[in-house]
Amino acid sequence: MAAKKIIITIDGWSSCGKSTLAKQLAKKLNYVYIDSGAMYRAITLYFLRNHIDWTDEKEVNEALADIQLEFHYNEHSGQSEMYLNGENVEYVIRDLVVAEKVSDVAAIREVRAFAVKQQQAMGKKKGIVMDGRDIGTVVFPQAELKIFMTADNAIRVERRFKELYEKNPNITPEEVKNNLEMRDYIDSHREVSPLRQADDAIVLDNSNIGMEEQLKMALAWVQEKR
Ligand code: DC
Repeated sequence: MAAKKIIITIDGWSSCGKSTLAKQLAKKLNYVYIDSGAMYRAITLYFLRNHIDWTDEKEVNEALADIQLEFHYNEHSGQSEMYLNGENVEYVIRDLVVAEKVSDVAAIREVRAFAVKQQQAMGKKKGIVMDGRDIGTVVFPQAELKIFMTADNAIRVERRFKELYEKNPNITPEEVKNNLEMRDYIDSHREVSPLRQADDAIVLDNSNIGMEEQLKMALAWVQEKR
């Protein structure tokens, strides 16, 4: 009998390798991978480009009505990429300019309602791995497997710095560290759906384990849940 399709949620601090694990799992299981952070990043990009005052509820609602978010699979990269109103924004949304504002935008109630509704619709058929901050607590509280990822701060900074440095050699480790600390603080202290570990989540600290080992562990948890 074919294994039952389940919902896998991966939440945790910024730059813990959530998306790496989520992509590996989706590939191995032939599941859909959804990067929920990309949606908040794309909304932030739209707000920045269109000079939206996001402290004004009316302006936010009007802007959201003009935003269409879609994921399209790219056969070359083998990954689904974020599209904002028909434009591929997968790469621009990774800029520090967006990273500096995304936590503020993601804390807005209307923005979250807008994103969560679409995320829940994507999980209707199950067979999905979604990573973010509130996926196991708010988006899919009924998910069969919930993973909460964490790693030492210094390791997270080093990983993110390497990633960003490839695109922007002017970036400093200090800037990356400040951005991570700021996002973690805002993400875990906001009023609406703060980052927290779901009671039934399994904690995965990958400070000292490699990608292969972490995938093996996660696949063993999948076996237990389906
Ligand atoms: O996963 P990421 O670093 O790309 O996410 C960018 C920001 O979006 C992150 O700082 C917090 C926010 N976010 C969120 O609030 N809820 C999610 N489910 C995913 C991301």
